[in-house]
Amino acid sequence: MANSTKKLAQKSKTPEKPVAPAKKAEHAQTKDKRPTRPLMLVTGASAGIGAALAREYAAHGWDLALTARRQDRLDHLAKELKEKYDADSITIAADMAAKGAPKAILKAIKDAGRFVDGLVNNAGYGLPGTFTYSKWADHAAFIQVMLTAPCELVHLILPGMQERGFGRIINVASLAGHLPGSSGHTLYAADKAFLVKFSQSLNLENQHTGVHVTALCPGFTYSEFHDVNDTRKVVSKLPSWMWKSAEEVAAEGFKAASRNVPVRITGFANKCIAVLARLLPDPIAFALMKSQSKKIRLTDDAIDGGS
Ligand SMILES: NC(=O)c1ccc[n+]([C@@H]2O[C@H](COP(=O)([O-])OP(=O)(O)OC[C@H]3O[C@@H](n4cnc5c(N)ncnc54)[C@H](OP(=O)(O)O)[C@@H]3O)[C@@H](O)[C@H]2O)c1
Repeated sequence: MANSTKKLAQKSKTPEKPVAPAKKAEHAQTKDKRPTRPLMLVTGASAGIGAALAREYAAHGWDLALTARRQDRLDHLAKELKEKYDADSITIAADMAAKGAPKAILKAIKDAGRFVDGLVNNAGYGLPGTFTYSKWADHAAFIQVMLTAPCELVHLILPGMQERGFGRIINVASLAGHLPGSSGHTLYAADKAFLVKFSQSLNLENQHTGVHVTALCPGFTYSEFHDVNDTRKVVSKLPSWMWKSAEEVAAEGFKAASRNVPVRITGFANKCIAVLARLLPDPIAFALMKSQSKKIRLTDDAIDGGS
């Protein structure tokens, strides 16, 4: 490892405590003019949980690489993070459905003279309707955004983290990954279950590398998610105790990643639901999901009927 890289690696191990804005200037640059704050790459940073995680990491002394499709949103967030936390951000507009997106994002970070100390794989959405309701092209794009791109990003970034002896990876999965599959949004639970297992394996493989890996599993969270997948009307009937703010989810995610917790289900109620799903005999858990699917997912007739 080159000397300068070693130096940066050591500096990257900043304590994960909130940094008071007044102290920021102290560690903005090293003597050789390189940034000393570690860099967190957040996908899906233009809204919801991704934006909240970007704020959380900025508040704890990290710089950010923010990516999503909406450049204006990323620039707005970057400005906010600079003003509030003196965090520097690289903003990269990219559609994760494009196969070249992970490499293009990392090239933009490298061109800016930085390397990635942390990765939040968060960009995501749901496809309403049953499996055959959507065109294969839409499912293929979903798999690219939700599964292939997160895996590729980890594969590209992890070796550098291991070499430097420091890294944080959060894969934003879901409570859905711990429950039986629902009727509607067919690939969603399957993808989130994949991310849970993927994170557990990575966590085990990196026990002595300084790289922490966490699957962050929120339940219902206030964000744009349910507007994008058109389930706002359906899920708004759910009781308030089932909901958390994106900021609460981000705070739990940050703590879990710092402590190298392999899987963190956010909130007491969601933890209870996950435990129940594990303890109940499969046919009963499955029957429960059968009875609840319409309360959380959009069926084909509901989409067509516009209800
Ligand atoms: N909200 C919930 O109840 C909930 C519960 C469990 C898990 N989650 C998971 O949490 C993650 C974040 O969701 P959220 O609730 O914060 O939803 P959100 O407010 O809708 O944010 C989704 C983010 O993903 C980005 N994104 C979507 N498609 C993309 C694409 N093709 N390329 C690049 N970026 C894309 C969006 O940015 P652009 O539109 O600007 O590209 C946006 O920044 C998702 O993985 C979701 O599955 C959410």
